[in-house]
Amino acid sequence: MSSPLQFTYYGHSCFAVVIDGVRVLFDPFITGNPKAGHIDVNAIDADYIFITHGHGDHLADAADIARRTGAVVVSNYEIATWLGTQGVTNTHGMNFGGSYALPFGRAKYVVAVHSSTLPDGTPGGNPGGFVVTSGTRTFYYAGDTALTYDMKLIAEEFSVDFAVLPVGDTFTMGPDDAARAAAFVGTSKVVGVHFDTFPPIAINHDQARTRFHALGMELVLPVIGETIAL
Ligand code: NI
Ligand code: MN
Repeated sequence: MSSPLQFTYYGHSCFAVVIDGVRVLFDPFITGNPKAGHIDVNAIDADYIFITHGHGDHLADAADIARRTGAVVVSNYEIATWLGTQGVTNTHGMNFGGSYALPFGRAKYVVAVHSSTLPDGTPGGNPGGFVVTSGTRTFYYAGDTALTYDMKLIAEEFSVDFAVLPVGDTFTMGPDDAARAAAFVGTSKVVGVHFDTFPPIAINHDQARTRFHALGMELVLPVIGETIAL
């Protein structure tokens, strides 16, 4: 029996996971999130900041948090380089198929089907997701993506305990495709993100959860600010 991870949700696609005492923050977007006014961005600590792609709703607070905490920012090569121009020097750039060694395990940068232009119009490379493994736990965070057969490669290589998937539709998968994605990566436990922040990605929670239940899966739609054990 593997021990659960602590997962804290900061809204939209921003969350932190603590693994063996190491705090990993994903896709920081808080100050611009109309639903996250009660989150104090200056109180968020991080040892690592993972960024899936270049859109502002995934990295708007990254440079500030990185400069304050000294966290290592891990993203694709183009985004890591661009952050360097923003005064963030502690970066690690990757590209698809590459893995990065962490104190507790490793993270692999995997394919997403989306776009990745940076806020100032600079090309942000290709969008991706991460598979994070520790000695006992493995999870997949898809970033922003459509459903893609490439997700089946994750099930071939990893035993995924849970997946963090976008469910807001319009710009990413909606709940139906997210359930299919969970099947592709071989997990029945999904944490939904990238929903309700703006009107185009508002979803019906009951409908979405029911869809997953009908397929023998569980969809967790976290509340902003809450910490859950996964
Ligand atoms: Ni995006
Ligand atoms: Mn997005």
